[in-house]
This record gives sequence, structure tokens and C-alpha cells, in this order.
Amino acid sequence: MKRALGAAATLHRIDGARHPEARRIADVLRSRADKPNVFVLDDLENIEQAVACGIELDGLYATVSSSANGPPSLVGVDPDVPVHIIDDAVARSLFGGQKHSRIFALARAPRSPRLFDLIEATGDIIVLDGVRLVGNIGAITRTACALGAAGVILLESGLRTVLDRRLIRASRGLVFATPVILASRAECADFILRTKLPVAALSADALEGLDSIGALTGRLAIVLGGERDGVSSELDALTTHRYAIPMTADVESLNVSVAAGIALYEHRTL
Ligand SMILES: C[S@@+](CC[C@H](N)C(=O)[O-])C[C@H]1O[C@@H](n2cnc3c(N)ncnc32)[C@H](O)[C@@H]1O
Repeated sequence: MKRALGAAATLHRIDGARHPEARRIADVLRSRADKPNVFVLDDLENIEQAVACGIELDGLYATVSSSANGPPSLVGVDPDVPVHIIDDAVARSLFGGQKHSRIFALARAPRSPRLFDLIEATGDIIVLDGVRLVGNIGAITRTACALGAAGVILLESGLRTVLDRRLIRASRGLVFATPVILASRAECADFILRTKLPVAALSADALEGLDSIGALTGRLAIVLGGERDGVSSELDALTTHRYAIPMTADVESLNVSVAAGIALYEHRTL
């Protein structure tokens, strides 16, 4: 059911940076914790997606300007979650140079998924080996969710936490629907060796075309390399199959999220 923010029993106004709620938001935004207890969720769709995945909200915040044409509505939000109307200038100053949303929430961090949780799930496991652009990681997470992958392992991504605002936005909130796990290359190698998962690496200069991947029947770890350096020697050493997506001679490589989407689709079980 849609809940109009303005329909809350009590609307709390945040009219200055010294307001306790403003300070709380500032603390969460400033946090550099690897395991934050509370994080920021931006935009209606991402908040709704997160809530649909079981994320609990501590508070909802809408800028005065976002409520000018009537209060925004949210699906599935607990009516007991306090709603705050925040002055636009206060919101701008809190977010500083970061992108600021007209509607956002503070949410409680869920339990972080672990590598061995992926064993329980079905579908291929995507390993991003040095992919660092958050937009690419988010797009791949969304595709992984759409095509039934078990999860995504991030190696050397540069992210401290998967509760990163940019990643949540780039994945459209689907980072809560598909396990996304930060790991070291050594941890990932140990996981692959213990689970005996076949490893298919994607590389533009591999000799075998990707259409052969359909011949592999069981689940795979599908490894994609980083934007700059491709698949690392550590992961390459574990690789059992290498595939290229054929391209015209004008192009050196595909965007990694495009390559991931094509590989997941070629090996889909849906
Ligand atoms: C932008 S590319 C990296 C280019 C990098 N210079 C390299 O040496 O691989 C990022 C990743 O996307 C995947 N990729 C891109 N184009 C591909 C293709 N035509 N076939 C298979 N994989 C591809 C690979 O996993 C690659 O490591």
C-alpha cells in the first residue's frame, strides 16, 4: 500500500544544521566504517526496493521542495517510521559536494552476506576482479539479480562497504536482493578451491567464443576483469575456461557490465 509521507501522524521539521536529526544524518554521511550500523538510502524507488527486501528504516526525510506538490508516496513503509521534512538548504549543506536527494532515509544495516552463503543459493556466481567503477558494479548487480545469479563477489573494488550510497543507487536498490560480497583475492581463491566451482573467465583475447559456454551445464564462477587491467594473474590461475565475446576489429573491449550481461544471458538457467 502507498503511504503518503505527509499522512504521518507527526511530521518533524528539520530547520537547521544543529537540529539533532541533522547532526545524526551528518554523522552517518561522514562515517568511514567498514561495517556501518546505519546507512543512507536515496530516492523513492531505492527506498521501496530496500524495504521490499526487508531493510528496516529508522527515519524518512523529504525536502520542503519535494513536498511542494503534495507529499510523496512510498510503498510498503512501516507507518511507525518517523517522517521528517527538511529545509532544502539544510539538506544541501549536509550532503555538501555529494549528490543529494530530495527524499532519503536512514536505514539499519542488514547482516552482511558471506562467501559461503553463496553455496546455498542457485545460479552462477559473478566475480568482479578489480572492477572499480561503482556504476559498473551497480549495473552488474542489477543484471545478476535479473538473470538469477547467486551473487556477486567484489575483489579490489575500492569499496569499504556494499552499503555505499553510490552502489545502492547504481544497482537500483538491488544490492539488497542479491548477495554482494567484498572479499580479497586470497579469500575468493580459497572459496573457489574448496567449493570446486569451475571458473569461466571472460577476456577479449581468449581463443574460445562465448557461445561455447552453454555446453557447461553446472553452475559457474564467471570472472570479469577490471576496467584497466583485465583478469588478475591470481584469478587466471584458477580459470578452467576462457571465453571471448567476438567483436568487430574497431573495438578493443566491451564495457565490463555489458560483457557480464552477455555472459550471464548465454549461461542462463531461467
Ligand atoms: C574494459 S574490459 C578490460 C580491458 C583490459 N584492458 C583488459 O586487458 O582486459 C573489462 C572486462 O570486461 C570483459 N570483457 C570486455 N570485453 C570482452 C570481450 N569482448 N570478450 C570477453 N570479455 C570481455 C573482460 O572480463 C575484461 O577484463
